[in-house]
Amino acid sequence: MRVAIIGTGYVGLVSGACFADFGHEVTCVDTDAAKIATLSKGVMPIHEPGLPELVGANLRAGRLVFSMDLAGPVRNAEAVFIAVGTPSRRGDGHADLSYVYAAARDIAAELTGFTVIVTKSTVPVGTGDEVEQIIRRSRPDAEFAVVSNPEFLRQGAAIRDFKHPDRIVVGSNDPRASEVMAELYRPLYLNAPPILYTGRRTAELIKYAANAFLATKISFINEIAELCEKAGADVQEVARGIGLDNRIGSKFLHAGPGFGGSCLPKDARALIKIAHDHGTALRVVETVLAVNDVRQRAMARKVAAALGGHLRDKNVALLGLTFKPNTDDMREAPSIPLVTALQDMGARVRAYDPVGIEQAKQVLTNVAYFSDPYACAEGADALVIVTEWEEFRALDLARLRSVMARPVMVDLRNIYRPDEMARHGFVYDGIGRPGMPETSS
Ligand SMILES: NC(=O)c1ccc[n+]([C@@H]2O[C@H](COP(=O)([O-])OP(=O)(O)OC[C@H]3O[C@@H](n4cnc5c(N)ncnc54)[C@H](O)[C@@H]3O)[C@@H](O)[C@H]2O)c1
Repeated sequence: MRVAIIGTGYVGLVSGACFADFGHEVTCVDTDAAKIATLSKGVMPIHEPGLPELVGANLRAGRLVFSMDLAGPVRNAEAVFIAVGTPSRRGDGHADLSYVYAAARDIAAELTGFTVIVTKSTVPVGTGDEVEQIIRRSRPDAEFAVVSNPEFLRQGAAIRDFKHPDRIVVGSNDPRASEVMAELYRPLYLNAPPILYTGRRTAELIKYAANAFLATKISFINEIAELCEKAGADVQEVARGIGLDNRIGSKFLHAGPGFGGSCLPKDARALIKIAHDHGTALRVVETVLAVNDVRQRAMARKVAAALGGHLRDKNVALLGLTFKPNTDDMREAPSIPLVTALQDMGARVRAYDPVGIEQAKQVLTNVAYFSDPYACAEGADALVIVTEWEEFRALDLARLRSVMARPVMVDLRNIYRPDEMARHGFVYDGIGRPGMPETSS
């Protein structure tokens, strides 16, 4: 099938490359000239494992093309995906739909023959109706259907997630459009992921409800972690103990510095606004966000506590800055409020991240960057593990200790075991775990 994808960010680029890999003819369109120029040469604007190889192979096979011009690709396409950003609107937390509506207007002008317009961007309930209106107003003659097909991929594992999804959600009020969608995803039938056909508004809401639920699990386990610290219990064992219950599930029960990234915070904020617009309140989601906001800055107090309560003129070394491993994405990364809070408390911040330093430089100020963990740790009064990159799992602890001013580690991802760290002479604090072995009374 011929497919046009409007917006070549994480979602548009990964979707385009995967659809091309299935055998479809795909054109990825973007208004960002620099992005299109580098992609056309096979150079990736983002760090995503496996993506350079997938894009390169499909570029060479001629199934994947990058373009700034939307007209030709849309005219030829049977399906046009809208995959532009829907960031938080400045000031009020609503999803900013200006990019989606601009794309809809551009698409409308070029429609020929029956075309399915698929919203892959995460959009509030009813956006599909508005996209339909925009197109209908400017092209009363056009034959088209608007479908919602939200994306659930995780950055860092995006290709696997796209090719082996837990489910595919198709929100469509038009049977012809549903057939086109079934044909597009037919190459996945071998893996037999469930395809859930729903109404368009339901599909739009499924995406937000999914992200809000994931955020809820994280805030929940983070609060339980706080209780564990006070009560002398171990949050990792609590998480395992509850996660083995199939009704709960073990995923997203890792206590840490709070959730961030390009989706969970913004989608939770937008969902709260959607609910208000419909005259209802999502108090659980409101609390989930409030818990998260407080938690992120509280991590700086944890570092201060490990250094006796004060950070003035202390050197604090951070390992990991991106919001999760295997991505260079810094959008709403927990490291950002952490760095600000550490600096507010008078600390000097040094940092290392395997791939995120260039992105970090655009959002963090007065941070000294280093090209490996040991250089970063040199002279540090405390080392803080912020993002659980694989390469931090087996650090040379003796070497670290020898270069640091004080052997203090605050492990916000619980990568290390307290007894192991004590053996290496570290003052160690993790998340939601007793510092000393539990004694039975
Ligand atoms: N990043 C994720 O992990 C993820 C996962 C699931 C869903 N989503 C959702 O998918 C959508 C896209 O997210 P993203 O992270 O890929 O965004 P992004 O910001 O990385 O990319 C968006 C791209 O759209 C381009 N663009 C904007 N307006 C355009 C227009 N009129 N024509 C052509 N291109 C245009 C921008 O230049 C940019 O390259 C969002 O709604 C997001 O919530 C993201």
